[in-house]
Amino acid sequence: MEKPLNWRSQRWLAREDFRSFNHRSRFMQMGYEEQDWAGKPIIAILNSWSEFNPCHQHFRDRVEDVKRGILQAGGFPLEMPTMSLNDAIVKPSALLYRNLMAMEVEEMIRCHPVDGVVLMGGCDKTTPAMLLGAISAQVPAIFLPAGPMLRGHSRGQTLGSGSDAFMFWDERRAGRISESTWEGIVGGIARSPGTCMTMGTASTMTAIAEALGMALNGSSSMPAVDAGHRRMAARCGRRIVEMVGEDLHPGRILSRDAFLNAIVVAMAMGCSTNAIIHLIAMARRAGHADVGLDDFDRISREVPVLANIRPNGDSRYLMEDFHYAGGLPALMTRLSRHLRLEALTVTGQSLGENIREAQIYNDEVIRPWDRPIYAEGALAVLRGNLAPDGCVIKPSAMSERFLKHCGPAVVFDDYPSLKQMLDDPQADITADHVIVLRNAGPKGGPGMPEWGMIPLPLKLVREGVKDMLRISDARMSGTSYGACVLHVAPEAYVGGPLGLVRTGDLISVDVAARSIHLDVDENTLMRRRAEWISPPPRYARGYGRMLLDHILQADQGCDMDFLLTQAGPAVGEPDIF
Ligand code: FES
Repeated sequence: MEKPLNWRSQRWLAREDFRSFNHRSRFMQMGYEEQDWAGKPIIAILNSWSEFNPCHQHFRDRVEDVKRGILQAGGFPLEMPTMSLNDAIVKPSALLYRNLMAMEVEEMIRCHPVDGVVLMGGCDKTTPAMLLGAISAQVPAIFLPAGPMLRGHSRGQTLGSGSDAFMFWDERRAGRISESTWEGIVGGIARSPGTCMTMGTASTMTAIAEALGMALNGSSSMPAVDAGHRRMAARCGRRIVEMVGEDLHPGRILSRDAFLNAIVVAMAMGCSTNAIIHLIAMARRAGHADVGLDDFDRISREVPVLANIRPNGDSRYLMEDFHYAGGLPALMTRLSRHLRLEALTVTGQSLGENIREAQIYNDEVIRPWDRPIYAEGALAVLRGNLAPDGCVIKPSAMSERFLKHCGPAVVFDDYPSLKQMLDDPQADITADHVIVLRNAGPKGGPGMPEWGMIPLPLKLVREGVKDMLRISDARMSGTSYGACVLHVAPEAYVGGPLGLVRTGDLISVDVAARSIHLDVDENTLMRRRAEWISPPPRYARGYGRMLLDHILQADQGCDMDFLLTQAGPAVGEPDIF
């Protein structure tokens, strides 16, 4: 390979000055010598492996496959650890730390002699965090999805991450399953490395990475423990070396069309509601501030849910089945009339070229247009006096009865008081009431915890109630289901109208009309607004304090305001040291 002079790594290693002497000597301290780096792009492998992250267990080994691919293609691989966020373990909310991880990814790329990057992520927030960082760093980058775990299993029953945990938890609360059955579920619902295998946030976001063109075609549904996952990892390694030669950085891939493609795919997948927050954040980082809630709602009306993956559809299928049915390239062949097929991808080819030979192997898992899982897309955006800047509901995973509903509010200012009511077998509540939880948004939560799928009150669970209307400024897990209105913006904590609701007020939701309304006259609302007192800040110092000062609302993607400015290409950094 001819030695290019414009690689970033050359500035560290190829010059005849004192700084370069130091860099070369420190590389030699690690046992390398000139043959390792001379004339080769340095590829950083950003690995979010951690012993606190069960979804990324296999990354400690998988990185060796990536290195193999990089070496085969003539690159010089160096692994770099990053933060690791496991959605099931991090408290109070992994979203709280998404921006911190994104900043770390960006800065670690920026401050090292890196020509190209392989991003190893997959557990919910790690995907958008890594992509956000790579977008701002603007060096060639390819995303390597962790891949879904195997189907859950216990006592002859298939189990799906999250969705079945919620369902069986309600059964346990109602006393309808034994302790030993419960223990079987605890040990069987997550039984291999990999990400949640339902259509939760992890599966949604890795599919989005592929639809955006930032991951190899077919990579997002590859099961984590499949030998094909190792081969795909090596392909990522080979491809990133070529991408450096082509200067194929995220700015060339992430056009507005790429984001619209990702929304189309998300809707057809029956995506997690979290997709909205992360996609808007990524689009804004990439300079497309015009991608917003209205794009989601418009595309949702045009594109049906075709992927039959829990918690959508008939609950028979999980990500493993989706992969065997042809995976995302196969689904995209069914969506091609709505996709911008000329969009460029990490393969160096267009999306249309990538999926040209894809086939569908199971019409039950990837449904045809005339037999969709849900006739419209997965999500709907509601607006009204209770959510002037919008809120979100998932009609494809709720009871039809609540698509249009009016009921009296039962209001909670915090989770502990809500929990007290939920556990009270004598609670004064019916299935027609509307539970309101507030102060659970980006600043109030803080970090918008996934409290939005508020458990049904014990009293109603015992009566056999399966769904009711719940409203919050929180998020919910992508594996959740039910008539849950989420992401109410602006949040109560910053003075949004959700903070003005009182128990007994009537609230109406009409999904077809995309409306949400608090039936209280304007004079009363003005009086309540004048009486409203801003809650004290959640953090006095540290990262939490910075987040509170700068995080944007849900409709703007929850990014930090100071990260929105385009950083410009990393090759244009001041080269003064
Ligand atoms: Fe990691 Fe669900 S907890 S993907």
